[in-house]
Amino acid sequence: MIIEKKSDKEIKIIKEAAEILSQIILKAKKSILKCNSTLDLENIICDTIKKYNCEPAFKGYRGYPACSCISIDDELVHGIPNKNKKIKRGQVVSIDIGIKYKNLYADAATTVFLDSQDIDIEKKQEIKNLLEVAYQSIYNVLPYIKDGVRTGDVGFHIQRFVESKGYNVIREYVGHAIGRELHEKPDIPNFGNPGEGLRILSNTVICVEPMVSIGDWHTVVDKDGWTVRMKDGKLCAHFEHMILVREQDSQILTDHEAIKPEII
Ligand code: MF3
Ligand code: CO
Repeated sequence: MIIEKKSDKEIKIIKEAAEILSQIILKAKKSILKCNSTLDLENIICDTIKKYNCEPAFKGYRGYPACSCISIDDELVHGIPNKNKKIKRGQVVSIDIGIKYKNLYADAATTVFLDSQDIDIEKKQEIKNLLEVAYQSIYNVLPYIKDGVRTGDVGFHIQRFVESKGYNVIREYVGHAIGRELHEKPDIPNFGNPGEGLRILSNTVICVEPMVSIGDWHTVVDKDGWTVRMKDGKLCAHFEHMILVREQDSQILTDHEAIKPEII
């Protein structure tokens, strides 16, 4: 398998794309409570992508019909925006967006909790903890990411951290490299064994996207052919940062402020 390193010029553009995407995600988070449905939020996201002179990367990808994936509560990823899917306080909402900018790609996701007085304190604490653990799993694996690290090592450290906190990692969906395509090889799983898998090279950019569940890790796909939800109907969370792999270390390209979990 050919893993293509990026030129310095390409990396500069991917960094810009990650910055722009971070702004788009911030705007989506700021707008979420104004939205009646996930389609309202999708429309704001599409407009913002255009405003930044970018193209939506998801629309048309394997036939996906929208600019964003908006997944609520037990929906894990790939939720298709729909006017009948209402956004309400008390929900856990993940927002996943991809853009194409100067022929290169950026892809990132966050999960927010829409705080509600109707939810008891213990449940709220559990939700906050779920989001925090899923997000922190990225920072926990970061020190291991550098030239030559194996995909199994990355997965192992994410899985170990998440399981040590009492949650589970989803096995059916994985992260990926990115740049000239939305999804490039190698896959970046959130589970694995040290020393296994392909080597991740310097001058590549990877999307580390932990998907974490409170219950069992098995998922099912809805009749719409896209929306992935937890089989047991329990809550889950998804975060996705873009990370530049360098010779001796790595650098997160998407903004902490945009991707970090938010209680809104
Ligand atoms: N961030 C998701 C991923 O990396 C986006 C799904 S792409 C879609 O797989 F276009 F299929 F939605
Ligand atoms: Co992705």
